[in-house]
Amino acid sequence: MSTDLFEIIHTTRAMRRLKPDPVPKEMIEKILAAGQCAPTGGNAQHWGFLVVEDKDVMRQVQALYRQSWDTLAGPHYQSQIDAMDPGEARDKLQRQTDAAFHLTEHFHEAPHWIVACLRVGKGGGGPFDGASIYPAVQNMLLAARALGLGATLTTRHTVHSEEMDAIFGLPKGVRSFAILPIGYPLGNFGPVRRKPLAETVFKDRWGEAYF
Ligand SMILES: Cc1cc2nc3c(=O)[nH]c(=O)nc-3n(C[C@H](O)[C@H](O)[C@H](O)COP(=O)(O)O)c2cc1C
Repeated sequence: MSTDLFEIIHTTRAMRRLKPDPVPKEMIEKILAAGQCAPTGGNAQHWGFLVVEDKDVMRQVQALYRQSWDTLAGPHYQSQIDAMDPGEARDKLQRQTDAAFHLTEHFHEAPHWIVACLRVGKGGGGPFDGASIYPAVQNMLLAARALGLGATLTTRHTVHSEEMDAIFGLPKGVRSFAILPIGYPLGNFGPVRRKPLAETVFKDRWGEAYF
């Protein structure tokens, strides 16, 4: 349990290895309440959150999530790894790939998922839809971290979005944007690794140093 916002932000990583033990409902409620604090365009709050614990539902979704690993994510990662010279960067990507595969195999074993959904426009969704749901998703990831719980933002299920949304029983016009498997972590939290600010932040015009 941590309360320092900056420590939480700097240590909120994809935690893909989870224990199967259930988490108290009060913790799940805290995470959901944090999600609902996020902004939506025009404060429309056109979102909905499913807490999924039914293993039948989870298994059906996992089968499709696994399929998208076999056809897309797995080969994509592998071709990236194959193109790299041996060394630290390659080892890092291999570890990330192993963790993503582990989560794929054990997706349904997480004790809880939160599925973040949004009512989309009549056209079936526009380019800004994500902007009204991912702030809530990030709030939930931070809240989970603050409570000492592991979670990962996953979107790969959207490869099969129609089938997935049918499994979740979503009404017409509502789509799922992210599945967050949540549970007690098997590993330790640690600092996220990101590029130095000097590489990504510019002054006034792209390419001009700010730092
Ligand atoms: C838009 C988006 C989609 C993602 N989809 C998946 C996913 O389907 N499965 C997964 O295991 N991780 C997914 N991730 C997690 C990222 O791979 C992860 O956050 C990134 O590699 C950085 O790792 P870190 O958070 O541990 O530092 C997704 C992240 C984002 C932002």
